Formats: sequence, C-alpha cells, structure tokens
Amino acid sequence: MNDRFLRACRRQPVDRTPLWIMRQAGRYLPEYRALRKDVDFLTVCKTPELAVEVSLQPLRRFPLDASIIFSDILLPLEALGCRMTFNPGPKLAEPIRTRAQVDALDARPAAEVVPYVAEAVSMLRRELDGKTPVIGFCGAPFTLAAYLVQGEGKEGFGAVKTMLYREPGTLERLLETLTAAMTDYLRLQIGAGAQAVQIFDSWAGLLAPAQYEPFALRWVRAILAGVRDLGVPVIYFVNGAPHLLEAAATSGADVLGICWRTPIDVAAARVGPSLALQGNLDPHALFADPTEVTRLATDVLDRMTGRAGHIMNLGHGILPETPIPSVEALVAAVHAHTGRDAAVAAQS
Ligand code: CP3
Repeated sequence: MNDRFLRACRRQPVDRTPLWIMRQAGRYLPEYRALRKDVDFLTVCKTPELAVEVSLQPLRRFPLDASIIFSDILLPLEALGCRMTFNPGPKLAEPIRTRAQVDALDARPAAEVVPYVAEAVSMLRRELDGKTPVIGFCGAPFTLAAYLVQGEGKEGFGAVKTMLYREPGTLERLLETLTAAMTDYLRLQIGAGAQAVQIFDSWAGLLAPAQYEPFALRWVRAILAGVRDLGVPVIYFVNGAPHLLEAAATSGADVLGICWRTPIDVAAARVGPSLALQGNLDPHALFADPTEVTRLATDVLDRMTGRAGHIMNLGHGILPETPIPSVEALVAAVHAHTGRDAAVAAQS
C-alpha cells in the first residue's frame, strides 16, 4: 500500500515527498477531453463507472500518490434543492438572494440525493486496491455561498459580499445550512471509503481578516468537529489568502493547503510546525519549459526539506491548457528528490 500521502498528512516520516495535483482529473488530459466529447460533465459525475474512470486517468499516466474522486464542489448542493448546469463553469438555476430563499433550502441527506458519489468512492477504492489512497472533498461554506448568492462564478463575487454587509444574519443562516450539509456529505464519502478529505475554500481570500473568522473559518471549524470522530486526515485549502494564513492554521485541519502566492517556507514559519503543509507551485509555472519546471518544482521541495509533513502539489488547480510534458517534469522532480528528506533527517 502506498501510504506516503497519508503519512505526510500525519507528519510521519516518509521515503519521499508525496505528490498529487489539485484538479488532476480533467481537461488538460486528452483522454478526459475524448470521454467528454460524448458525455456531458454532470453525467460523468453522476455515473459511478465514468467518475471512477476519469479519477483513474491521471494515475495511468503519472505515478501520483493520491487519487481524488471526480465530482464538483457544487454538486452536493442538489441535496438542498439547488439546480445547476455547467458550461464549463457552474450556473445556478436560481441565485439565492433573500432570507425566504435561504429558509426554504431543504436539507435532505446526501446519501439520498447524491448516492452516486458514495458509490463512486467505494468503487474507486476497490479499483485502486491500495495503489494510492482516495481523497474525498467538499467546498467550504463561504466558497459555496459565493456561488449560490452570485448564481455563477464571477470575479470578486460581489453579491455575497453585498449580502455580508446588508444582511449578515441571512448569510450566517445560509452558512449554517451549508455547514450541516457539507458535514453530512463528507461523512458519506468517508463512510464509503475516502481515506482523507479536502475542504476547498477557493474564495475565502475575498474576505478581510476581521470577516474571515465569522463568515468562513468558524464554519470550517464546525465541519471539522463534525467529522473528527471518523479519524481521517483533513486538508483545508484556502486560496488567495496570504493575509489569512495564521488564522487559517487554527481551523483544526491536519494539513493546510497553501496557495501559490506565499513562498511555502515563509508560510511554514508563519503557521508553525503543528500541521502539515500542501503545495504550492504556481499552476502557471507549468507553462514554462520542462527544464524550468524542474527548477521551480525543486525549489518548492528544497524549501520544505527536513520539515515533517509536506505534500507536494500546485498552489491552485491545474489549468486546462497545461502541457503534459510539464506534468511529467513535475513528477520527475519529486521522484529525483527521493530519499533526500531521509538523508537530511539522518544528518541532523
Ligand atoms: O481531479 C479533480 O480534482 C477533479 C474534480 C474536481 C472538479 N472540480 C471537476 C470539474 C474538483 C475537486 C473540483 C473543485 C472545484 N469546482 C472548485 C475548487 C477548486 C478550485 O479550483 O478552486 C471550484 C471553485 C469549482 C467550481 C467549478 N466547477 C468551476 C469554476 C468550473 C469551471 C471551470 C474550471 O475551473 O474547470 C467547474 C466545472 C468543472 N469541475 C470541470 C471539472 C473537470 C470542467 C467541466 C468540463 O469538463 O467541461
């Protein structure tokens, strides 16, 4: 069993730094684009055989150390009665803007509304048979609220910030509902076999520090408290958040995902040794030529040499236009580092 990812989550010694890539299953892979020619995105997510096939695609090409279940952060919102389409970004049938709409959200058990996610997780776990661990995931409440209130992805997500200032009580009520739904959703995935879970807070960086605690962090803490008894490591990824690092480190997660904006050794010094770190090569660095990719990836690894608990990853999701040779160079750079952590540990 390849458990170096799970060991790094727990800050245990590893033979080399584990690597996986946020959004590793998706459009930069020709085989994903080929599959999507005939099937739309939601059908892939809702058909366990297809979701598992797409989750396995990156692992067939690259020796990555974890697999993430193929889905989307917005899909479980169907459990609240929200309807949406993807083209390619998400669009809600109806943005949530009023207290009455928030009160009307009807939280049904994830096991009833999105049973296909649990099926896909257990099928993926069986298929992998210990080759790599399976990561489940959800969106953080503030990030989900940003999409729900806006109705789609939009620079700055002005609608949710307007709600924050005009009707903070309505936003809090929405966040409370989302927190309960995501706790239930993560429990479903862990029950089905997910060996770690990641909470994506892609838009918490839009908040000022004084807003981050009441409108984002507090709810992430509640989700963590609600899954703690299940004993799997939790990764909390906060994007665009150099101004929030110290606060984000107090979420209770085992691993903090660092976006590409802060050098990872600087982040490590700021958050202290008590949690593992994941990241943080800039996704755009993969547009450099492979020699430069090798240099930049090695730089990230060198910054973490000797620190217990580093999971190599990008500092946000891989971009659809990313050249495959760059991903190969990234993988090779991590593999070339094999044993260096152990050697450094032995010297010190
Ligand atoms: O390997 C994986 O990680 C794939 C599973 C996955 C998807 N979305 C598939 C997807 C995961 C973990 C996500 C998370 C997600 N979705 C986040 C958090 C991570 C981040 O990037 O910040 C967010 C904010 C979303 C919302 C979302 N879904 C957007 C903005 C888009 C469109 C643009 C984009 O970034 O891809 C989607 C659609 C989506 N989700 C696609 C995929 C592969 C593209 C759909 C297609 O195939 O046409």
